[in-house]
Amino acid sequence: MLIPNPQSNANQEFSPETVVRRYDDWAASYDEDRFENSYGRYVHAQEERLLRRWLASFRGGRVLSLACGTGRFMEFASHGLDPSHEMAAVARRKHPAKTILVGCAEDLPKHGLSFNAIFCLHLFMHLTPSLIAQILEVCAQCVRPGGVLIFDLPSARRRALTGFRPAGWHAGNALTHPQVQGMLGERWRIRHCRGILFFPIHRVPSRLRTWLRPLDDAFSTTPLKHGASYLIYCAQRLP
Ligand SMILES: C[S@@+](CC[C@H](N)C(=O)[O-])C[C@H]1O[C@@H](n2cnc3c(N)ncnc32)[C@H](O)[C@@H]1O
Repeated sequence: MLIPNPQSNANQEFSPETVVRRYDDWAASYDEDRFENSYGRYVHAQEERLLRRWLASFRGGRVLSLACGTGRFMEFASHGLDPSHEMAAVARRKHPAKTILVGCAEDLPKHGLSFNAIFCLHLFMHLTPSLIAQILEVCAQCVRPGGVLIFDLPSARRRALTGFRPAGWHAGNALTHPQVQGMLGERWRIRHCRGILFFPIHRVPSRLRTWLRPLDDAFSTTPLKHGASYLIYCAQRLP
């Protein structure tokens, strides 16, 4: 089944199976390619800070890293789930004490598990709005009331402002804040929303980064955050 990618300038189509195959092929060098450069190190640090803060009250609880990939941030999770056997294998090697399952986010209820919190980073950018809505729905079934769901999405506002057009299979989708609110529906309340990368910090010389970082942080908590590259949400499951 091919799913059209509505935001892609190239108007290419990528099936969910193709995305998983790409990650199977990429698994061995994924960490190095994505996170051992100035862009990767910066976003990793920003995301880590938010996870540490938003998951603080769930430490020691049942926390799922959905689309756990190679196990980045498994230190915050008790369980991981990813449909790519190769990505999951890397995660298992790095975190042998954690439960890492193979499967798609949309099939989560099949595992019969419930969680205090789920975090899902760098996945929704690949998916169509209907699949994202489906995953939000299954997360609502598997997160206990009072628990949280943390996820990120490229900002459609930023893409409209900058004229950015994704090319290829990676990060093809973006949503506006009202679209995200609409998809979360009645079962979730947005508790926090932060922008990541208002400025292209990873592209400026490192001596300037020291000055830009606090400014980037400050903008990313104001309404200007919708102009950041992407947004991270923390939504609470309502009773
Ligand atoms: C960009 S990686 C992100 C990995 C990890 N969350 C991180 O931030 O480092 C995207 C991951 O999503 C997984 N994925 C693709 N389709 C998925 C689906 N339908 N359900 C769950 N995970 C999926 C891929 O196998 C890949 O490991």
